[in-house]
Amino acid sequence: MNAILKQIPAHVPQHLVRDDFPFIMGATTAENPFTTMVPAIHQGPEIVYSTNFYPGHQPAWIPRRLEDLQALYQDTEHFSSEGFSPFARLIGENWNLVPAEIDPPAHAAYRTLLNPLFTPRRLQALDDKVRQSAREFIDKFKARGECEFMSEFALRFPIVVFLDLMGLPRERMEQFLEWENMLLHSADIEHVVRGTRYVVDYLREVIDERRKHPVDDLISFGVRETIDGRPLNDNELIGFCFNLFIGGLDTVSTNISWQVRHLAETPSDQQRLREQRELIPNALEEFYRRYAAVTTFRTCIKTTTVRGVTIMPGDKIAMPTTLANTDPAAWDRPFDVDIDRVPRHITFAYGIHRCLGAPLARRESVIALEELFAALPPFRIKEGAEIIIELVPILQPRNLPLVW
Ligand code: HEM
Repeated sequence: MNAILKQIPAHVPQHLVRDDFPFIMGATTAENPFTTMVPAIHQGPEIVYSTNFYPGHQPAWIPRRLEDLQALYQDTEHFSSEGFSPFARLIGENWNLVPAEIDPPAHAAYRTLLNPLFTPRRLQALDDKVRQSAREFIDKFKARGECEFMSEFALRFPIVVFLDLMGLPRERMEQFLEWENMLLHSADIEHVVRGTRYVVDYLREVIDERRKHPVDDLISFGVRETIDGRPLNDNELIGFCFNLFIGGLDTVSTNISWQVRHLAETPSDQQRLREQRELIPNALEEFYRRYAAVTTFRTCIKTTTVRGVTIMPGDKIAMPTTLANTDPAAWDRPFDVDIDRVPRHITFAYGIHRCLGAPLARRESVIALEELFAALPPFRIKEGAEIIIELVPILQPRNLPLVW
């Protein structure tokens, strides 16, 4: 403990320092962290200082109250989004995720440009293709009576949707899955660097190609569109494509897997949604609340306080949607899943950076559940299975064996 205390800045009260916060890069658990770790964290202080929560085992503040997280999302005077993900810096480049790492006032122009990407009309046009993809995955295992849901569906389905959107060949699916694993699920920094390099190099190649021959896909959209009357530059285009890659694959995989795990473990909810499919969209909102898995970060740029604690410029602060959505001060029965409630959760963030792809993510989940219900009889977790959960950067099951 002494070695750790030495690195703690003077403004951090010692009683808030945690070197044993459970969510650490590379850590896994066979528990369900939503039912064990999350309630336990809510019994502690309203904000703690973890010595190793930020990528690279660096320290970060971790607030857990919904109202604090909402205020933080809105407080762009004291907190910046710039550089919250390590990827560009790791490969020696200096682009930002567009628009996730852009602060106001510049952020507004990017959002104005990108908001039309996932309108209901555009989603409608994608619907048949997304449904067809879901069916193709399910067809491969439906007669077998069992599947390993993570590898046979949850991890691959959102990649195919992404490849279609970006106009990239579906044959690249396995390659993208490997890159995504290196980048997001490796505790070895060398792997993360190499994975990032592969993705960025590949995206640059395709951007160059689309400049010469634009087609009807999101990369061509980026190449064709203008911002402040000029075309997007190379850094902006890579930041935009990389944001869709990092924002739209693993998040969807993870959420679908928790939704399916919940239904496999709760036959009454599964039965009800099978009989009343029209309830699926609302039930999903409760699943999003209870199983929010994403944590991003902000960097303090001007001294301020959160819950009376001083936060200094340079400090990292976590934005754990997982905790805000289960804050006992904000929610009635926060740890129960009640598919009849209409939760105003912040799984897709809050304020100006609220998730651009949320309508697509929701549609992917609705389609996945509808197609699973249509193709399979009631499913449950395989007897004796041990489900291993990765804790950082996203609470994601590694395996999910189902039988029916
Ligand atoms: C269930 C799935 C998803 C979850 C839980 C999720 C969650 C989030 C969160 C929490 C943020 C805010 C990040 C921050 O400001 O710190 C965000 C932003 C964003 N997400 Fe998602 N996301 C999901 C799916 C998607 C999909 C499918 C796409 C694109 C295809 C996408 C694209 C984006 C983009 C571009 C931003 C940046 C928005 C901005 O800064 O204005 N996300 N998402």
